[in-house]
Amino acid sequence: MAEQSIFTVAVHAGEQAAQIVPVAGPDAGRAYQPVVTPVHHSVAYTYADTADLDAVFAGASQNPVYARYGNPTVTAFEAAVAALEGGSAALAYSSGMAAIHGALLAAGCRAGSAVVCAHDIYGATYALLRQLLATQGVSATFVDVADLPAVEAALQQARPAALLVETMSNPLLKVADLAHLADLAHGAGAALVVDNTFATPMLCRPLDFGADYVVHSATKYLGGHGDVLGGVVVVRDRAHRTALYEVNKLLGANLAPDEAWLAHRGLKTFPLRMERHCRNAAEVAAWLAADDRVAKVNYPGLPAHPQHDLARQQFGGALFGGMASFDLRDGGQPEVFRFMDRLRLVRPATTLGDVYSLALYPAMSSHRALEPETRRRIGIGDGLIRLSIGIEDPADIIADLERGLSRVGR
Ligand SMILES: Cc1ncc(COP(=O)(O)O)c(C=O)c1O
Repeated sequence: MAEQSIFTVAVHAGEQAAQIVPVAGPDAGRAYQPVVTPVHHSVAYTYADTADLDAVFAGASQNPVYARYGNPTVTAFEAAVAALEGGSAALAYSSGMAAIHGALLAAGCRAGSAVVCAHDIYGATYALLRQLLATQGVSATFVDVADLPAVEAALQQARPAALLVETMSNPLLKVADLAHLADLAHGAGAALVVDNTFATPMLCRPLDFGADYVVHSATKYLGGHGDVLGGVVVVRDRAHRTALYEVNKLLGANLAPDEAWLAHRGLKTFPLRMERHCRNAAEVAAWLAADDRVAKVNYPGLPAHPQHDLARQQFGGALFGGMASFDLRDGGQPEVFRFMDRLRLVRPATTLGDVYSLALYPAMSSHRALEPETRRRIGIGDGLIRLSIGIEDPADIIADLERGLSRVGR
């Protein structure tokens, strides 16, 4: 059968047809089933035959036995994300950060090993490497992933367990050349771990380009409504799934069933939302690029973006994401604060990928963990604002940004 469209997969994938069998009354024994996977709160699961329970503990069966090992509502969400990303399996986590941590450990990060990482990466990912994994003996080298010879040199020198990149970087929207990076990583014996939170499978499926672990903060576009914190890692290779599972049985960073249910519900409309996010973002980015009060706009869909051609080729040419960032002309923290305080529709909130439009000041929040000199050197300046463009009417979003910009000089 031909592969189904992402719109169809998003609606149907993963649903677990749980049977309900009344045990008493006139319908005893007559099974029926809910269309939507229920929220299962049970921590433990029993089996009529202890041999079945033994098979679960032995790993021969993936049926649930204890909530830290797996839960049917979470399994449904995992199966849906795996289908959307074209993977064979996925493991869900309590947050995107837990997912990144789990993927790095599963990829072999341990005392004495190394990670090569994109230098303009989400601030907490940077801090995970610099502040947490460093104390556990994992060394990190940060490199501009747009500079492939520099990546190759770093890989050959560090011989890391993993190369960690974002498909589109947070907040500079640099595009990673995934096929080339996969070749370079594998040539150095490293796994390629790709954070696909910004791009989502609507734009690109990193496994198709050779990635080994694809990570999402499900808090963002997959959930989409700003009401669930979660993460997920998708893999092609079953052995990688086993590695993730064994690590997480000990980490215990599981996604809770209520969260999984919300995230799975969000997934059903994710392609619809994403299409609209992308079209709105293209319109907003073009408007900002034409404004004199703005020094620079980072959006891969703009022909002036340094990797526009790569973005076209890797993302299929039509959609370029819902995220953009821009530098105020001659602006620093006071101007950014004035801009943010004037906004009424675009919420100055610390997240992204929601149906609402959101503005964020990376120097204050997402990238606060970076030393200011390092932050400025990689291009995250004091006048940089990140926008997550929502699904509202683009004219209303632009009117609100105009309100903010009109206040910058005063
Ligand atoms: C690109 C990216 N990856 C990972 C994360 C971490 O996700 P979470 O906040 O769900 O832990 C974020 C959070 O903003 C992010 O922007």
